[in-house]
Amino acid sequence: MPDEKRIGRVPGTQGYAEQAAELIPQYESIPFTAHHAAELHLLPTAPSRILDIGAGTGLDAAWFAAQGHTVLAVEPTAAFLAAAMRLHPSPLIEWLDDALPNLDAVMGLGQRFDVVMLSAVWMHLDEAERGIAMPRVASLLAPDGVMVLSLRHGPVPAGRRMFAVSGEETMALAGRHGLVTVLNTHTESLQPGNRAAGVTWTRLAFKHAG
Ligand SMILES: C[S@@+](CC[C@H](N)C(=O)[O-])C[C@H]1O[C@@H](n2cnc3c(N)ncnc32)[C@H](O)[C@@H]1O
Repeated sequence: MPDEKRIGRVPGTQGYAEQAAELIPQYESIPFTAHHAAELHLLPTAPSRILDIGAGTGLDAAWFAAQGHTVLAVEPTAAFLAAAMRLHPSPLIEWLDDALPNLDAVMGLGQRFDVVMLSAVWMHLDEAERGIAMPRVASLLAPDGVMVLSLRHGPVPAGRRMFAVSGEETMALAGRHGLVTVLNTHTESLQPGNRAAGVTWTRLAFKHAG
């Protein structure tokens, strides 16, 4: 089971444990196909290996599993990991307590993945952490794999650790680590409260160059 003592030591998770009871139903309320409409066409249809980093309540992991994919779902916030395991049990999902930027446990597995999901997590890392994380996540992507990354823009929720990260700097960083951009869109938030507050999203996808 996740270790409560780790909360606060993982950069980016600040505020999530305290707000988990309210956030869990919110995360569960938006279907995968709506949340990820922009990148659906890039996702594999044949059974594949998925890495979901910052998996939250496991809604995305559950969708991938329902499509027949095997999923490694990584989540450092204990309350989310426990909810995910309870809400979305599946023999195709392996749950793991690990965190960006180092992803030591994931890196230690020595595996590569056809899809690497970084949905609504990258802007929780500061510039130095993003610089550590990018070559690591790039190295986890299989040669023909796709990495999906979304960035939240706008007001930062109280108590949360979030940085203003642009799509341009993220594409440039990815490019320095051998990734090319295959998707770059900007959308408004699907959550009514966030949309009203002016939250928007950049949705990016990357593949290995060449
Ligand atoms: C906004 S939620 C997104 C959840 C889910 N990926 C989604 O798109 O609905 C951000 C998630 O990233 C996790 N997170 C925060 N910092 C992290 C880090 N350093 N490494 C991995 N996950 C982190 C949080 O615990 C939370 O579950």
